[in-house]
Amino acid sequence: MTTRTPLMVGNWKMNLDWTQAQALVEELGDLLKGHDSSSVEVAVLPPFVDLRTVQVVVDAGKLPIAYGAQDISQHESGAYTGEISGAMLTALGCTFVAVGHSERRQYHGEDETITNAKVKAALAAGLTPILCVGEPLEERKAGNQVEYTLAQLKGGLQGLSPEEAAKVVVAYEPVWAIGTGEVATPEDAQEVCGAIRETLGSEFSAEVADSVRVLYGGSVKSSNVAEIMAKPDVDGALVGGASLKADEFAKIVEGAR
Ligand code: PGA
Repeated sequence: MTTRTPLMVGNWKMNLDWTQAQALVEELGDLLKGHDSSSVEVAVLPPFVDLRTVQVVVDAGKLPIAYGAQDISQHESGAYTGEISGAMLTALGCTFVAVGHSERRQYHGEDETITNAKVKAALAAGLTPILCVGEPLEERKAGNQVEYTLAQLKGGLQGLSPEEAAKVVVAYEPVWAIGTGEVATPEDAQEVCGAIRETLGSEFSAEVADSVRVLYGGSVKSSNVAEIMAKPDVDGALVGGASLKADEFAKIVEGAR
């Protein structure tokens, strides 16, 4: 079995302008001084307009912080007003990009066809897609969380080769736990993250299942991260609100060990 390097990702959502982004990354850099990325990888996903600033701060300080975007265009270039391409993100030193976050699915009508195209666009640009999946409250209440989430997973990864699938990160984020303060129990997280890994095995290969990092997201804080991370199929966290405070996010990173 491979040892998967834990990955802790801060999703800033539509928060922080470039000056605030600069301050947060500088503070985080100070707190993570000497941090070893080979034991726990740390990444932030700022708004597009902050990326250049984050790049400059990270490069100047040689900070152990990777970064990426919250969305990507499914198209390569051209007449797509308002869109940002994978190549543009790569040129800014991005490594990651979130795809199919539940807020994109809910407010921007992103379905499986779009998330699948975006996963492919990310891979084509050399970025690591973080494919976000997870059930809304009605599906959880009906006991359909595994089935619902796996359908999103299969749709998002459709047509990928095992080599491509091995490069993806999957984030299980139950919609009812996002920004609500209601965190899934470690057992809830393990149930679905385990099912995601099994499906990666049956759809692709045992090697893919073994190497892909599966994150949990939804109201992760420094006080609950360790018990969730203790589950065998949880390899990290996608953190929203709690990633906007440098000291809290640094504690979450600490809790991942
Ligand atoms: P939250 O958001 O940590 O604020 O619940 C998680 C996410 O949406 O990625």
